[in-house]
Amino acid sequence: MFGILSPVPLLSGPPVHPLVNIAVSAARSAGNFIMRNLERADTLQIEHKGRNDFVTQVDRGAESEIIKLIHKAYPQHAILGEEGGKIGDNEVVWIIDPLDGTTNFLHRLPHFAVSIGVQIKGVLMHGVIYAPCTQDLYVASRGAGATLNNRRIRVSTCRELDHALVGTGVPIKPEKLPAYLPTLGAVAEATAGIRRAGAASLDLAYVASGKLDAYWEMNLKPWDMAAGLVLVQEAGGIVGELYGEGDPMNSGNVLVATPKIHGPFVDLLNTVRPRFEAAQVDAAS
Ligand code: IPD
Ligand code: CA
Ligand code: CA
Repeated sequence: MFGILSPVPLLSGPPVHPLVNIAVSAARSAGNFIMRNLERADTLQIEHKGRNDFVTQVDRGAESEIIKLIHKAYPQHAILGEEGGKIGDNEVVWIIDPLDGTTNFLHRLPHFAVSIGVQIKGVLMHGVIYAPCTQDLYVASRGAGATLNNRRIRVSTCRELDHALVGTGVPIKPEKLPAYLPTLGAVAEATAGIRRAGAASLDLAYVASGKLDAYWEMNLKPWDMAAGLVLVQEAGGIVGELYGEGDPMNSGNVLVATPKIHGPFVDLLNTVRPRFEAAQVDAAS
């Protein structure tokens, strides 16, 4: 949290890409749908996708609303949605988490978001994250910077690991805990504090906007990260796998940080890497 830069108004920014306009409309529309259902969240029919992994008709309804708006504008584009999976085959793929933070939503804890990323020819190009409780809208396009409510955002100027406030996600599957807990211990010892807020897209958006200085999590899915990774990169942050190399979209294991603390964070995670790898082998066997 040290050295946050205030958002800078965009006086005459680049024109917004047409795909981003559709993503923003779709995210707002899905966000409004989610908010209309928030008051009855504790009465919704909950299905278990797996242990501690829930889905409701609100997740599904929000995804349908997003896909409807995308396909109205771009019927040929492909979709990768958390609830409906892959639809179509096209060089443009919309990667959608219609409600990121379902567990928070079910508890009426006001921290969840709609996340829409656009990948073109395999490259993440655009990201939109909308948090309906605060009406915060995060937008980024490759090469055009990142904004929060139309104001330019940058990652924080944090330079020291021991000043860093760090986001994370605790695995929801118990068998994934042995690989994760050594990293939690190492980060707790080395930093100013850890937060587990419960919506991966917002963890990434918070790094992009300087509220957090770094974030790491394991076992994520492409829809948790697609939009947020573009945001972090466009806000000047470093995006990578836990040990610096590799693409988090492939492995699901992500580390993002300000440029000054990314290297020390990788070094820190490397100190517990053997325990992480041994636990992964155990979990696979
Ligand atoms: C979850 C949230 C959570 C993260 C989990 C995700 P969902 O997404 O982003 O913060 O720790 O790994 O699955 O299920 O609420 O869309
Ligand atoms: Ca998610
Ligand atoms: Ca979700």
